[in-house]
Order: sequence, then C-alpha cells, then structure tokens
Amino acid sequence: MLPEEFLYQLKQSNPITEIMGSYVHLMRAGSLMKCLCPFHSEKSASCTVYPHNNSFYCFGCHAGGDVITFIMQIEGLDYISAVRMLAERAGLQMPQEEQDNGEAKMRLRILELNRAAANYYYKQLTGADKRGLQYLKERSLQPEIIRKYGLGFAGEQWDGLYKAMTALGYTDQELITANLCSRSSRNNTLYDRFRNRVIFPILDLRGSVIAFGGRTIEKDGTPKYLNSSDTPVFHKGRNLFSMNFAKKSQSKRIILAEGYMDVIAIHQAGFENVVASLGTALTPEQCRLIRQYAEEVVISYDSDAAGQNATVKAINLLRAAGIRPYILRMHDAKDPDEYIKKFGAAYFRRLLEESGDAMTYELDRCKGSTDTEGDTITALHKAVSVLAGIENELDREVYLSKVAKEYSIQTEILKAQVNQEIRKKQASRKKQEWRSVTQSAVLRDPVNPAADHYPKEAKAEEQILCYLFRQPDALETVMQQISPEDFPTDLHRRIFEHLAKRLKEGYSFSFSLFSDSFTPAEMGRIIGIQAKYDSIDFSEQSIADCLRILKQKQINVLSASDMNDTDFSAMFEELRRRKN
Ligand code: GTP
Ligand code: MN
Repeated sequence: MLPEEFLYQLKQSNPITEIMGSYVHLMRAGSLMKCLCPFHSEKSASCTVYPHNNSFYCFGCHAGGDVITFIMQIEGLDYISAVRMLAERAGLQMPQEEQDNGEAKMRLRILELNRAAANYYYKQLTGADKRGLQYLKERSLQPEIIRKYGLGFAGEQWDGLYKAMTALGYTDQELITANLCSRSSRNNTLYDRFRNRVIFPILDLRGSVIAFGGRTIEKDGTPKYLNSSDTPVFHKGRNLFSMNFAKKSQSKRIILAEGYMDVIAIHQAGFENVVASLGTALTPEQCRLIRQYAEEVVISYDSDAAGQNATVKAINLLRAAGIRPYILRMHDAKDPDEYIKKFGAAYFRRLLEESGDAMTYELDRCKGSTDTEGDTITALHKAVSVLAGIENELDREVYLSKVAKEYSIQTEILKAQVNQEIRKKQASRKKQEWRSVTQSAVLRDPVNPAADHYPKEAKAEEQILCYLFRQPDALETVMQQISPEDFPTDLHRRIFEHLAKRLKEGYSFSFSLFSDSFTPAEMGRIIGIQAKYDSIDFSEQSIADCLRILKQKQINVLSASDMNDTDFSAMFEELRRRKN
C-alpha cells in the first residue's frame, strides 16, 4: 500500500471530473456528473461521476471505482502504472520504493522517445534532402498545416533515426519496442523502419505522440503506407487519427475519412472535425470514442467499391454506438483529398451539407439494375429488409411511403411485407436473448458468485458496508457484533476485512483504500454499493436488522428437519444463548 499522504495528494491533484473529462464528455446532473459510459456501448448516459467522493459508477455495465481504477481500465494499465501516470500528470514524485517499476517507466520512456523521433523527422523535412517537403507541396499542403500536424520526413539513410536517438541515450531495446527500428537478420544491427517516407505522427487525446504512419514518396514504393504496429503505448483499434483536433472543434458532427491525407486535406479546407481510423476497419471502441464528442458522423470514405463496402460496415457500427450516420457522396474523384484538390473547399462544403442520412443511402444501394421485373423484385425484397431495420416507427413510415412511391406499388402492400419481416426479426432476436439468458443463468454474478445463493444476506452485507463507507467510525461497534466469518459471500467478506484492516492501520476512509487490492470489476461492485444506496439514509434499526440477518444466517443454513441430533441441540443452545 502506498503512503496515505501520497495517495491523498495524488487524488487532490487529479480530481475525477478533470481526469474523466479529458476522456469523455461530462454533463452536469444536479450535484453529480454524467457521461456516456466509455466501457460499453450505450445511447443514454448511465455512467455517473460523484465528485464529492471522487468515484464513478456505470449503472449499465457496473464499471466503477476511483480515479485510479478509471485510468487502469481506460488505459489498460496495472495499478501501479496508473498511479504513476496520475503522479506524472500532477508533477508528484512517486514514493521511493515504487520508483523503479518496470512497465510504467518503460511506457514513459517510449512516449519520450516517440516525441524525440517526431522532432527528428520534422527537422529532416527542412534538411538537405528536400524530397519530403517537395512531396507534401505537390500534394498541396500549406506550411501551416504541415506544422500543425507535425509532419516529417524519413530520408534514404538506413540508420539516421537510429544514430540520432542513440545519441540521446535511447537503447536498442527501446527503439525496437517503440517499433521505430528493426534488427537486421543479416548482420544483427538495427535499422530504421521508416525510410523514404513522409511521416504522420499520431497523437492521443492528451497530445502524446503514440505512433507513426509513413507514406512512401517513391512512385511505386511498397507498402504505400507503413504504420507502427501495436506497442505498449499504442493500440490501433482504440485511437483515431486527428481526434486530438476534432475533439476541440466542439462540433456535434464528425467527418470520418479513410486515410491520413484525406483528413489533412479536409482539415486544411477548413473542417477541423475530421478523423480517420488508423489503417484498420472502424472498431466499436473507436465509435464509442467518437460518441463522447459527437452525435452525428458523416462517412466520407473512398468512392470505390472497397470504400463503399466499408461504408456499410461503418453505418452499422456507428448506429450500434448511438451515432446517427450520414453519407457523403462524391463523383469524379476517388477520395476527399482528390475531390478538394480538383473542385476546391467550397464544393466540398456543399457535399457535406448535402450528405444524406444513411437510410437513404442504404435504400439506394438496394436498387442495382431495375431493368427486368426480376430485378425490381430483388430490389424490393432488399428494401423491405432495410425498412424493417428502422427502429423508430415514424421514421419507418416516412421511408416506407418513399419506397412505395419510387417503385409504384401500394403502400399497404409494402407495409404488410415490412411488418412480417419485423416479426421475423423480433422472433429471432427473442430466441437469441432467451438463449443468452438461459446460458448466463448458471453464473449470474461472476464477481460475487455466492450472492446468488444468499440473496437476502448479500443485501444485508451491502447495506452494512455502505453504512461503514459513510461512517467508518462505526466500525468498532459493528465489529463487536459481527466478524468477517459472518459474511457468507466472499467478495463482501473481503471488502469488510480489508476495510477493517486499513482503518486499523490508521488510514482514513476513501475508495482508494481498495484499489490496490481489488480488480477493476470488483471496484465496480464496491462503488456500485455506494451508488445503489446513494439516496437512502440508514437508521440504526435498519443496520441492526442487517446485522441480525447475518448472525442468523449460520443457523438457517440447514432447516431443523435436516439436522442430526447433535446439530439440533447445538442450534438450540445457540438460540438460547442469543436470547439472553
Ligand atoms: P494517398 O495515395 O496518399 O492519397 O493515400 P490514400 O489516403 O488515398 O490511400 P488509400 O485510399 O490507398 O488508403 C487509405 C488508408 O489505408 C491509408 O491512409 C492508410 O492508413 C491505409 N493504407 C493504405 N495503403 C496501405 C498499405 O499499403 N499498408 C497499410 N498498412 N495501410 C495502408
Ligand atoms: Mn488519396
């Protein structure tokens, strides 16, 4: 356990609202704050932040904890690395014995190294070899935007970066871990991964350089784009290129493009609210990240078949995250970069304004050729399936009559078909839900399994714990009446034991007393307990009742008829003893 004074300082200088606020969009809700939970997909905010005791809890997925748990979960760090990150942010010195923690230290070194490398590449752009700068100029990038994105250049040399970074004290291992250098199998030396490429540094939301993308400047260089693979500080599917700028634009709408150059071209044309998924298909995690800042996304993928297939996938992922997708449609250009170069920013703005909602796009895609009756029927069947997928009844009605008109058929007939399709979909969804319910019934509470067998006792335990969270001074009195063994569920017993131990050691109460010894899932439960009873005042009587439930539990385990004589007389004795 870290010293109390240190933990106190750490939390004072890292208020949960400030830390969470840099990852999610917090909304005021009375004295509390709310946000869309960053740990599961949802459309309405069920993640609550309690500024008064520095904790958060999601009523949807039961994620919860203190500011340390939050960092552990959102950054995928262990306890001590999360503490280190928060200490670093607040400029606090880590307590002595924790100073040489390997993982956290390595992450920091990699981030430093990345920044130094970005600087190196940036300087190379204006060095003797002007090919990089020339390339960017040819692609119509202005000096300001090059500077804003910190674009750089990796030249011909095999070890330019390697030499520059080792001169700064970075080791071979660090350069390999950062995915900046590779080891040659021929002579066992290190060489730069990025050569003859313009460099796109990738920043996270806090402005740290976490990875790089590099585009070849050679005519048929392969691969065209080379990206950092996952490193301790970079996970592809979790980040979006240019999200650090888009976040600041305060727009409810985000433009989603395919490539680095598209993003930069769109940004240069005056739209800062643009991002790209990084060399992979869009992921649910990225959608949730977007949802923290925006309600609508304009998908601006390439106009080729690959781009259009990716569009359909993105539509579904965005909808699942509670985002309304719009589609930008381009003609006479392969991608937004090319479009802007050809027609200018003003025309691109018009495309943005004209971008229709995804539903119209999907219905149009059903059409294909409608030369023969057969084609028309196929198209109509596809359209029925799309229409049946519209959840809002009013929306559905509008599109339904539009389709009916377009294909010149009676609305009622189309409607009947769509309703039939909806029933079919519902039936299959119900079946699936039922299957998942019956499957999960076996283990309903994986975090505290015993709670299923002791529902009444588990509730009593929760209330006692919550009471103690609020009034730690009452521990003595409670301990006189029950001991940890009286708690039938394992998790609650451990919480009780841990709390008693820490309070006896002289720590004052805070939820951070738990975060070094309980997993994030368990922390969720701990905060969940306080969240659940947040608006309830415990009377002495109700706590006494809870204590009694726990005391009686042992006796009620077997009903009298199941007991042998010795047990029965023991129980009898026990009851008599309590009565006195
Ligand atoms: P330019 O030709 O520079 O305009 O690129 P683009 O953005 O038009 O490229 P394209 O549509 O071919 O690719 C879109 C995105 O896919 C790029 O920004 C990269 O992130 C990724 N990508 C493209 N080519 C490669 C490749 O060869 N390897 C990898 N890993 N990713 C690529
Ligand atoms: Mn392009």
